[in-house]
Amino acid sequence: MSNRVVVITGASSGIGAALAKRLGAEGHRLVLAARRQKELKRVASQSGTRALPVVTDVTRRADVDRLRDAALREFDHVDVWVNNAGRGISTPVMELTEDDLDEMIAVNLKSVFYGMQAIVPHFQQRGEGHLINVSSFLGRVPLVSVRSAYSAAKAAMNVLTANLRMDLANTHPGIHVSLVMPGMVATQFHAVAAGMPPGKAARFSHPGMQSAEEVAAMIASLMDHPAAELYTNPASADTARRYFDDIAAFEQSMDH
Ligand SMILES: NC(=O)c1ccc[n+]([C@@H]2O[C@H](COP(=O)([O-])OP(=O)(O)OC[C@H]3O[C@@H](n4cnc5c(N)ncnc54)[C@H](OP(=O)(O)O)[C@@H]3O)[C@@H](O)[C@H]2O)c1
Repeated sequence: MSNRVVVITGASSGIGAALAKRLGAEGHRLVLAARRQKELKRVASQSGTRALPVVTDVTRRADVDRLRDAALREFDHVDVWVNNAGRGISTPVMELTEDDLDEMIAVNLKSVFYGMQAIVPHFQQRGEGHLINVSSFLGRVPLVSVRSAYSAAKAAMNVLTANLRMDLANTHPGIHVSLVMPGMVATQFHAVAAGMPPGKAARFSHPGMQSAEEVAAMIASLMDHPAAELYTNPASADTARRYFDDIAAFEQSMDH
């Protein structure tokens, strides 16, 4: 199906920007959100479709509500809402400050909570809609200890997503709720997690990483074939199985 109205948070770079370009090329209409106005406008103008940029800080509930209102004003309805904005950290547990933890919760968990509560009532009214939350494989298997607070926030996001899906399954079978768990993706995420400001961070890439475009193509396909969960890296399901099978043995194997 083309011509959906799709809201994407975190659309100024990386996976969100690649998704905007992909969906634009397919003819969907877009509402794009992030803090950096210039980048957001650039992505909107390059998307080749009707795309509304809305400067939004997803850590503020009023901004997220304003984003929903702007989308409804522009397009009358929303078909798909992608909670994609997020940010990492590179700090082990014992070195985390309380501010670090609050920040990770705000940008990776509360943002998604705000997004869900903003758009799901609209989906319920229409009896249809697709909510897509972009988490991380680290939210399922916390195998990188310096990502600590980030992985914890994504794990909590996984739970809220699953519980919302369970709540809607019986009452609103036309609403889909999907969780996307990418592995390593070549974006500026890694430089930002290391402390670089988003405007100055370079895209980090090494062999074996997926590209933002590959992940965007998988999310676009998820819109056509909704599923509860999507690991974008084909190796992830097996790694998760090995982890839950014997966590101590898995952690030991990581040390060597
Ligand atoms: N890259 C990876 O290896 C990887 C792996 C697993 C999961 N992920 C997840 O994928 C998602 C996209 O990340 P990416 O890899 O594409 O990184 P990215 O290029 O750094 O993109 C992050 C996006 O989030 C936006 N954002 C950050 N804080 C925000 C805020 N407070 N309000 C609004 N927007 C905000 C940024 O825009 P502004 O700075 O303009 O606000 C940017 O558009 C994230 O949720 C990330 O956790 C990434």
